[in-house]
Amino acid sequence: MKKVYLDNAATTFPKAPGVAEAMSDYILNVGSNVGRGSYESSYSAGQIVYETRELLCEMFNFNDPLNAVFTSNITQSLNMITRGYLKPGDHVIISSMEHNAVVRPLVSLQKIGVEFDKVMCDSEGKLNPSDIEPLIKPNTKMLIMTHASNVCGTILPLEEVGLICKKHNIYFVVDSAQTAGVIPIDFEKFNLSALTFTGHKGLLGPQGIGGFLIDMDFANEVSSIYEGGTGSLSESETQPDYMPDKFESGTLNIPGIYGLNASLKYVNSYGLSAIEEKEKELSSLFINDVLSINSAKIAGIKGTDGRTSTVSINFENYDNSEIAFLLDKEYGIMTRVGLHCAPSAHKTLGTFPSGTVRFSFGHFNTIDEVKYTIDSINNVLKLL
Ligand SMILES: Cc1ncc(COP(=O)(O)O)c(C=O)c1O
Repeated sequence: MKKVYLDNAATTFPKAPGVAEAMSDYILNVGSNVGRGSYESSYSAGQIVYETRELLCEMFNFNDPLNAVFTSNITQSLNMITRGYLKPGDHVIISSMEHNAVVRPLVSLQKIGVEFDKVMCDSEGKLNPSDIEPLIKPNTKMLIMTHASNVCGTILPLEEVGLICKKHNIYFVVDSAQTAGVIPIDFEKFNLSALTFTGHKGLLGPQGIGGFLIDMDFANEVSSIYEGGTGSLSESETQPDYMPDKFESGTLNIPGIYGLNASLKYVNSYGLSAIEEKEKELSSLFINDVLSINSAKIAGIKGTDGRTSTVSINFENYDNSEIAFLLDKEYGIMTRVGLHCAPSAHKTLGTFPSGTVRFSFGHFNTIDEVKYTIDSINNVLKLL
C-alpha cells in the first residue's frame, strides 16, 4: 500500500539528505566527547559542535554562538528557562494557543507562587497585540509565545509582541517548534530574549537535539537547573557561570548535533523562502479542495495566508478518530488525531474536547500526495 506521511508537525519525516550519513560518520569514525579530550578527534568533534552553534546564529540572526545552548528539545529548553528564572510572585503572560510544553511548567510553578495569564486569541487562533497591554502588571517578568499553533497553523505576530515587551521591559521567550526552518525568525528584529528550538521538526534534523539562543543580559538572570561536569573548570566544584557551559552540564548529544549540522546546511542551501513556498503550495491545494467537502470544517484560518502548512479538520457528524484510523488502515495516510498536547488551543478554536484530525504537510510531501489524500478522505467519508 502507498504510504503518505502527514504528521510533520509532530516530527518531520524523512530527514534532510545527509543527516543519517553525518550521524553515522560520527558514530563510526569520530566517537569522541567534546571539551574533554586533548586529541585530534575530540577537537574535530568540537569544531562541528561550534560550527552548528554558528549555523543556528546565521539562521536566526543572532550574534553570539556561545549563547546558543544545546538541550534535548524545546520542552527541556522551556523548562530550563522558566524554572531557572521565575520566582514566587513573578507574573508571566502566554497566548491561549500554547502547547503544553509552555503551559505545564507554568501550571506547576503556580505551586511556588508564580502567576500567569493567557492572552485570548480569537476562534481562528489569531492574536491581537493590543490585548496584551491590559494584562501587564508591575510583576510581569516574561512573555512566552509560540510562533505558530501546532494545532491549526495560525502564525502569531511576534514582531509586534516583541515591541510591546521591549517597551515594558519584559523578557520575550519564543517557542519556534512549528516555524524554525520554514518561516524566517529574526532574533534582533523580534526583540527576543530567548528563542527555543527543537531539531526534529522543520529543521529536518534528528530527535533528541534542541536548544535555545539567549540574550546575554537575560542569561545572566537565569540560573541553571542542571549542574555537573562541563569539561571545563574541573578544579572547581561550582558550576561555571560562563556560556554555554553554565547551561550545558553532562555529555552533549553529539550524534544529534552532527545530524543537526547537516540538516541546517541543507535548509540553508535549499533556502528558507523556497521551503516556505513549497509547503504553502501543498497546504493551499489541500485547503482549497477540503473547503468543498461539506462535513470537513477547518479549525482556525480557513484561507491560505497567515498560517503554516498544518491543517486541522473537524469532521462534523463523524468520529475524527475513526477517520484517522481508516485513512491509515485503508490508504496508508498518517495523520494525528486528538488534542495535540494543546488543550488550551483547542478550547480557543472551539474544538475541545472532540479534537481534530491534523494533516501537517512537510518539505518532502508532493502534490500527488495531496491529491491522493483528498481522494482518500472522500472515499473514507463514503464508507462511513
Ligand atoms: C508548538 C510546540 N511547542 C513545543 C513542542 C515540543 O517539542 P519537543 O517535543 O521537541 O520538545 C511542540 C511539539 O509538538 C510544539 O508543536
